[in-house]
Amino acid sequence: MKAVRYSQFGDADVLHLEDVAVPVPAAGQVRVRVAATSFNPVDASIRAGGMQGPIPVALPHTPGIDVAGTVDALAPGADQDDDGGARGPVAVGRSVIGFLPMTGAGASAEFALAPADALVAAPTSVDLADAAALPITGLTAWQALFEHGDLQRGQRVLVNGAGGAVGLYAVQLAVAAGAHVIGVAGPRSAERVRAAGAHVVVDRSSLGSSGELAAAVGGPVDLALNLAPVEPQQLTVLVGLVGDGGRLVNTTVWMPAPSDEGRGVRGVDMFVRSNAGQLAELVRRVDAGELRIAVAERVGLADLPALHARAAAGEVSGKVVVVP
Ligand SMILES: NC(=O)c1ccc[n+]([C@@H]2O[C@H](COP(=O)([O-])OP(=O)(O)OC[C@H]3O[C@@H](n4cnc5c(N)ncnc54)[C@H](OP(=O)(O)O)[C@@H]3O)[C@@H](O)[C@H]2O)c1
Repeated sequence: MKAVRYSQFGDADVLHLEDVAVPVPAAGQVRVRVAATSFNPVDASIRAGGMQGPIPVALPHTPGIDVAGTVDALAPGADQDDDGGARGPVAVGRSVIGFLPMTGAGASAEFALAPADALVAAPTSVDLADAAALPITGLTAWQALFEHGDLQRGQRVLVNGAGGAVGLYAVQLAVAAGAHVIGVAGPRSAERVRAAGAHVVVDRSSLGSSGELAAAVGGPVDLALNLAPVEPQQLTVLVGLVGDGGRLVNTTVWMPAPSDEGRGVRGVDMFVRSNAGQLAELVRRVDAGELRIAVAERVGLADLPALHARAAAGEVSGKVVVVP
C-alpha cells in the first residue's frame, strides 16, 4: 500500500510517499481502509523531532492522528468490549472515525490500524473524508470547555485562536452550551468565527495594545481558552482578562499557562485524550445539524510534504483533510 513516512526528524522534505506492507491488526485492533486523515499542527512538531518527550514515536513514522474510513479487518475479539458486549461500529464495512494513539503509526496511508475502542460510527450527514476533520480538534474543544474549563450556561468565554480548527468547534460548542462567546481571530478567519456563532469577534490585527484587547472584550470572562501559538506574554494578558476564580485553559502546552493565585485564577495546560463517548456525542451533534465540520481544503497523500511546508510558512488557514 501507499503510505507517507519519514525515517529521520526534520523539515517537510523528510516526508516521502512509499510502498509499505499492509498492516495486520493485533489483539484489540481494527484495520481501517482510510478515507482521510487530517493535518494537525502537532504532526509538524512531531516530524520536526520536538515532541519526543511527550509523544515519542519510532522511526520510520507515518503521521496522521485522525482517521475516517471503513472497517476492513478485525483482530479476533476486537468487536467485543471487556464485558463481552458488541462494539457496534466495529464490523467489517462500517464507516468509522477515531483519534489514533499519537505514538503509533498514523493514517497518512491507504490502511491504518486503530484500537477498536477508539472508533465510533462516522457521521452520516457529511462526506466520510470530511469527517476526518472532527476527532482531535472536536475532542480538544470539548475537553477544554467542559472538562478543564468547567463552562456553565450564562458564563462569558474568550476563545483566542477562534478561527482555527479547534477554535471553530469551541465557539460552536460554547454557544450551544448557553455561554456568551467572544472570539479573537485574524482577518483571514474572522468571518468563519462569526458564522460559527460567536457573539463578539475581535480582530486581533486591529489591536495595538493589551488595553485595547481588554476594551474589546468588555469586562472579565469566566473562562479563556488559548488555542493559538502566541508569545508567553500574551498568555499573561489573557490571565488578566479572566475574572476572580476563573480559568485559563491552554492547548499550546510548550508555554505553561500562568495562574494568578491571589485572585484564584487557575492556568491549566491540557493534553487532549481519546474518548469514544465524547466523540460519539460530537458525531450525534453533527448529524443533528448542531455542529458544523468545516474543511478548508483536501489534498492527496502525495501532497502531504508540500502541505507541511506551507503550514511551516503560515500559509495554511482552516482544516485540511488528506485523502489517499
Ligand atoms: N494540547 C493539546 O492537546 C492540543 C490539541 C489540539 C491542538 N493543540 C494546539 O492548539 C493550537 C490550535 O490547534 P488548531 O488545530 O486549531 O490550529 P490551527 O487551525 O492552525 O489554528 C490556530 C489559530 O491560531 C491563530 N493565531 C496564530 N497566531 C496567533 C496570535 N499571535 N494570536 C492569536 N491567534 C493566533 C490563527 O488565527 P488566524 O487564522 O485568525 O490568523 C489560527 O486560526 C495549535 O497550536 C495546536 O498544536 C493542542
